[in-house]
Amino acid sequence: MVDESYAFVVVSNRLPVDRVVDDDGTERWNQGPGGLVTALEPIMREADGAWVGWAGAPDLEHEPFDRDGIRIVPLTLSQDDIERYYEGFSNDTLWPLYHDVIAPPSYHRIWWDSYVSVNQRFANAVAGITAHGGTVWVQDYQLQLVPRMLRQLRPDLTIGFFNHIPFPAYGIFSQLPWRTQIVEGLMGADVIGFQRVADAGNFSRAVRRLLGYTTKSPYIDIPARGEHPSRRVVAKAFPISIDAQAFEQLARRPEVQARAAQIRQDLGNPTTIMLGVDRLDYTKGIGHRLKAYHELLGDGRLVAEDVMLVQVASPSRERVETYRQLRDEIELTVGRINGDFGVLGHEPVSYLHHGFPREEMAALYLAADVMLVTALRDGMNLVAKEYVAARFDDDGVLVLSEFTGASDELRQAVLINPHDIDGMKDAIVRAIEMPRPERRRRMRALRKRVRENDVAHWSREFLRTLARHSDGPSEGLGE
Ligand code: G6P
Repeated sequence: MVDESYAFVVVSNRLPVDRVVDDDGTERWNQGPGGLVTALEPIMREADGAWVGWAGAPDLEHEPFDRDGIRIVPLTLSQDDIERYYEGFSNDTLWPLYHDVIAPPSYHRIWWDSYVSVNQRFANAVAGITAHGGTVWVQDYQLQLVPRMLRQLRPDLTIGFFNHIPFPAYGIFSQLPWRTQIVEGLMGADVIGFQRVADAGNFSRAVRRLLGYTTKSPYIDIPARGEHPSRRVVAKAFPISIDAQAFEQLARRPEVQARAAQIRQDLGNPTTIMLGVDRLDYTKGIGHRLKAYHELLGDGRLVAEDVMLVQVASPSRERVETYRQLRDEIELTVGRINGDFGVLGHEPVSYLHHGFPREEMAALYLAADVMLVTALRDGMNLVAKEYVAARFDDDGVLVLSEFTGASDELRQAVLINPHDIDGMKDAIVRAIEMPRPERRRRMRALRKRVRENDVAHWSREFLRTLARHSDGPSEGLGE
């Protein structure tokens, strides 16, 4: 018998709150940087919601607690789980595979075993607290087996899944030794959401190839088998976004604007400030960006005294070897550029290896004439949308890789192929030289798009589809 039950449960690898322990040993839970919680908070409060996930530290046992009207249910991961399920299978197998093998994925059976058992623990925890006929929304690639496991435990539930990262073409996906189990795991959901139309297409194709089901976009039909009746699953694109209004309000605050002016001054008032903001990840194309910038300085098309690149690279997955190597490469390149083109008191790259609060990010966006998003592959890229949301002055130029989900929507950005270094160099120069009327025209169009398709729109569309498709009790969610 369960002692608690919730009508709407979200489950993700990480909880939306981070546990912080102060110097004096007191514990606090800070809201994490993700926009997901902002989007879901009102729905969860109304629908009696709970959020199940990992608190980010090894062996942490913590009782469930309430936070802003949401029940937070922390799950414990051991050091072994972290090494095999999280750093191993999630971030050294699935992550590189799903990002088009930019880095080589490692396939280890012991990691897979751990992925299965941790997914089962997440499914058990959710099954134990969800009310009869309730709705569960499973998030991201770390938990792809949860939908099927949950359906087996609780056939009464309505189950949604959203994949925040790309879903690769079958030729790549088929490398995975456990490809059939993953696809079967996902097919336990009623609705499977992807960032791009192409991702949903890649998934449907994998289902056809591996399971032989009939697909007619957006539907996938599972024939009846034994005592299981036939089922229809929806696989469709729901591009995620940010809380655009909140971001704009932040940027409009006088202290944020004053901070933006201060940043420009602190950087020596260069003619042009360019900005990169990324998790330090090999999918982000930071090396390609630096190469283009280095060459532009070398060619004399940019003059070091006039221009400045601020690169914020927030630390990420630092125990995974590929990430360690990447950090060394990036820091070597930054050192080279500053060594080659720096003068006393001015270095052309300001490299910051830490995260910043949202206020500081908004000020940086306002201070930046050109925003560089040069990812080699990215599910969406919310930084691009944040930059646009912050620019209430209708100024600034977004240079955006075609390999991001955001580029499907943000067509008025200066779109680039980051593999084409010459093309990227031309685009950077074009962005720097773009006349004010063109900047304004493009930024206005971008801002309209980001305002209309914000994160509330995203969650509403997903939950509506889920409610409609299941004609179950999830009716009312997302209204
Ligand atoms: C991406 C993934 C998220 C993940 C985040 C940070 O955005 O889609 O699921 O939480 O990166 O990565 P981390 O490994 O620190 O959770």
